[in-house]
Amino acid sequence: MKKITKVFIATLGLSIIGGLAVSAQDTTASAERGRETYMRVGCYPCHGTEGQGSGSGTALIPDPLPPEAIAQFIRFSPGRMPAYPESVLSDAEITDIVAFLETVPAPSSPDTIPALMKLRRND
Ligand code: HEC
Repeated sequence: MKKITKVFIATLGLSIIGGLAVSAQDTTASAERGRETYMRVGCYPCHGTEGQGSGSGTALIPDPLPPEAIAQFIRFSPGRMPAYPESVLSDAEITDIVAFLETVPAPSSPDTIPALMKLRRND
């Protein structure tokens, strides 16, 4: 085999392996990407920046719904929440958002916050 052909085959092999590595990376859920997407597509005005809920949207944490239920809800929301079609939010992006919600720690009990305890004592 000519040297140039060997180099070509080696390069082709490397780019296929590289391509596989990149696509494997893309399908792994990322909480960090999930947070960015959550902010970018505007979940936060209704559900709070940490998924803690706000005046207009329910709390999504702690103990988020199972991933399939979250995905179904986002795609086919029957109520006040807008449904997000795949053209706006891909399945991979939803998986990332779920990963993000799963990493948000539960809020601390009000009993552990000194400023609140003080207010309580003044009652
Ligand atoms: C305009 C406000 C609004 C926006 C924007 C919004 N939501 Fe909601 N969401 C709601 C409301 C209100 C509910 C409660 C159910 C209902 O009334 O439809 C809800 C319910 C949910 C639920 C079901 C929670 C449960 O426990 O039943 C999930 C999951 C959810 N939202 C995730 C998201 C995500 C992720 C985004 C961004 C892609 C988003 N929402 C954007 C208002 C919103």
